[in-house]
Amino acid sequence: MFPEHRPRRLRTTPAMRRLVSETTLRPRQLILPLFVAEGAERPRPISSMPGVVQHTRDSLRQAAADAVAAGVGGLMLFGVPETRDAVGSGATDENGVLNVALRDLRKDLGDDTVLMADTCLDEFTDHGHCGVLDSAGVVDNDATLDRYADMALAQAEAGAHVLGPSGMMDGQVGIIRRALDGAGHTDTGILAYSAKYASAFYGPFREAVDSQLTGDRNSYQQDPGNAREALREIELDVAEGADAVMVKPALAYLDVVRAAAETSPVPVAAYNISGEYAMVEGAAAQGWVERERTILEVLTSIRRAGADLVLTYWAAEAAAWLD
Ligand code: PBG
Repeated sequence: MFPEHRPRRLRTTPAMRRLVSETTLRPRQLILPLFVAEGAERPRPISSMPGVVQHTRDSLRQAAADAVAAGVGGLMLFGVPETRDAVGSGATDENGVLNVALRDLRKDLGDDTVLMADTCLDEFTDHGHCGVLDSAGVVDNDATLDRYADMALAQAEAGAHVLGPSGMMDGQVGIIRRALDGAGHTDTGILAYSAKYASAFYGPFREAVDSQLTGDRNSYQQDPGNAREALREIELDVAEGADAVMVKPALAYLDVVRAAAETSPVPVAAYNISGEYAMVEGAAAQGWVERERTILEVLTSIRRAGADLVLTYWAAEAAAWLD
């Protein structure tokens, strides 16, 4: 008899396929990033991310409650301030947009979800960089660390369960861990954006946070061609106290996600970012791909690569489909 081997046997019926399915995709594994804009009177659509908005204080509370009801595992908050300055003062102000939003959501949701915040200055600086600049206009690593420590404290005090340092400064996890512990916030966790690449896929995010950036982030984010460097970043972040690590973007870096999953002693997250979202939404709007199938395939592929957690703008919608 030929063929002797028939792998199709395991694909014959839906029940058979379900039985042998290797990869799970559950709502609790998804984290929804949300944007909140200071002073917004109504939600503002982000044109390059159809379906995603800059929330008002109130619409954010509703969206967060809906996502939690749909079963998503966590929320990641980004603030869009009304005014910006060289050091990103709004990030450390307890009345800054992000800290106010964290307080609102912690009050509404308590411990029903894992509330996370982007711990980075780029949304708050008038030059759009993730840190403060020295006199030559270069991002000053160590001066930035002091700002991150203050920002972390403000976010922990506002009610964040987990902080997401995303600025790719050396020592950022260690300085934040020490600041938190020193102030008694020993239970506040750190999801480190450990392997974050200088990616063109961040394009739509720039609109999402009204970014003021001119130039690029090549002196702090990783070169897309490098994989070994990502493992070093992860190792350092774990040594500095990261509770979980992240690879970002996701789709163009699934090999890095896989390598991280194989070596990391802590959970691995992958961020399915704005440009990846926009590609699928754009193609689906043209009728070139089936939207729901494509989204679920994207999210499944990130899980298959080894990510425990997936940050995705589809989190609430996908959670509802998976339920
Ligand atoms: C930095 C930050 C960025 C994103 C998350 N945190 C932008 C950047 O590094 O340029 C991008 C997220 C996305 O593109 O969806 N605060």
